[in-house]
Amino acid sequence: MKSGVKIRSRVVEALVDVAKGPVGSQEALNGVLQGSGLSPQDRALCTEILYGSLRYGPALLKAVDNRLRKGIASTDPIIVWTLVAANYQLRVLERIPDHAVVHTAVAVARHLVGPHAGKLVNGVLRTELRAMESGPRTAPAPESCYPGYIRRAFAGLGDVNLSVAAKAYLHGAPHTVRGRGRCFSDVSTLVEALEATGVKGAREGRVPGSVILPRGGGAVGTEAGTTDWIPQDEASWAVAQLAIDMAKEFGPSCRVLDACAGRGVKTDALRHGLGEEVSITATDIGSRKLKDLAELVPNVTTRSVDWTATTPFEEGSFDFILLDSPCSGFGTLRRRPEIRLISRRRDLDVLMEMQQKVLANTAKTLAPGGVLLFAVCTFSPGEAGEAISRFLASEPGADFEPVGLPSCPVGSWEQADGTWLTFDDPEVVSDPADTFFAGAIRRRQPQGSSAS
Ligand SMILES: C[S@@+](CC[C@H](N)C(=O)[O-])C[C@H]1O[C@@H](n2cnc3c(N)ncnc32)[C@H](O)[C@@H]1O
Repeated sequence: MKSGVKIRSRVVEALVDVAKGPVGSQEALNGVLQGSGLSPQDRALCTEILYGSLRYGPALLKAVDNRLRKGIASTDPIIVWTLVAANYQLRVLERIPDHAVVHTAVAVARHLVGPHAGKLVNGVLRTELRAMESGPRTAPAPESCYPGYIRRAFAGLGDVNLSVAAKAYLHGAPHTVRGRGRCFSDVSTLVEALEATGVKGAREGRVPGSVILPRGGGAVGTEAGTTDWIPQDEASWAVAQLAIDMAKEFGPSCRVLDACAGRGVKTDALRHGLGEEVSITATDIGSRKLKDLAELVPNVTTRSVDWTATTPFEEGSFDFILLDSPCSGFGTLRRRPEIRLISRRRDLDVLMEMQQKVLANTAKTLAPGGVLLFAVCTFSPGEAGEAISRFLASEPGADFEPVGLPSCPVGSWEQADGTWLTFDDPEVVSDPADTFFAGAIRRRQPQGSSAS
């Protein structure tokens, strides 16, 4: 078997795994590329086919469904995704000759499933090509690449028109890192450290301290981070910097809670930005994640907490809380294109309810005058600004008031109501960041006491 067929077969298997969940696109791609011995060009092509097929997945699946007599639900997923990947190459990529796309797809289906699958794929793709010959060949409309509830969630981007938003998240995401240790907030040392490991052409991003790696090959070896840097999207880093600045207001005696700390990318930023003397407590529901966090960030108290169920700290325990809340992650659609395939409409209701409980329980631990920074990497209105309004309108929310955020390193991310929404249009910005929403609330001082 030709090596090209072998590697494309692995791409198709990866697509099937990602579409089924819970394997993420990055993990699946690493599985394909690791030890493959592929040239940089072939690596880039596999990456393009995998991510492109997922980005255009909803529209291409519909097209494939229309062509299959039994429909996609009753067809082997390997055949379905072989056809999706081939359709992506024929209709969007348009870099590979048609006959080569069909030939490889047929060989992949035959190799992974059997001769009958090869015949089926051949028949479907020949019909597809005949249909394409009779009219102009067009890529699926951007809006058709999202399920309806994500299209509706674009309303959270305010004035951004639907087709601009839909196009924006079909774009690729840059590989971005920020410094740690000696490279923290020192871009020139960070760029030198990257160059020393062979990464040439890295450049400073729009958010001070972040560095965009060159396209193609920049990600390899940087996924996990080092003592000098850690992968972090510019918007995520901007939110972490915001948290550092807001916590600094409370001085060195500030008691910080990173409530949904995950593996600690933002906790690490807080530790670097606030110094060793500030007390930081990191909690998360996932104890495995907290183990990774403790390895990444020393000198942090960790505790496994389900914030929907409990408030394990006394009232008033913290001066500053970063609540990087669980959410749909729609704002990361560029780097996690599979979200459009694996999330469900009802997930949004579950997430919104969960966020209210997490917000109410974490807010209880805030000291009078203390500030909670709420952040989500999504644009869905119900999970973003409305989450704060709902909380403020609720009974526990009566003790709190909204706080306008300080100015933002990227002016267009500032909202008129004092929140941030980090939307980038890739037609305007060459390396678009993820979309984060950030807003803050302060616990009112009890009546009769004066704020210090
Ligand atoms: C957006 S991620 C946090 C990312 C992290 N702050 C970072 O910068 O790497 C949300 C986190 O919330 C955690 N989580 C989900 N449900 C939770 C709950 N009920 N209580 C506490 N943490 C929860 C998840 O495990 C996940 O790590």
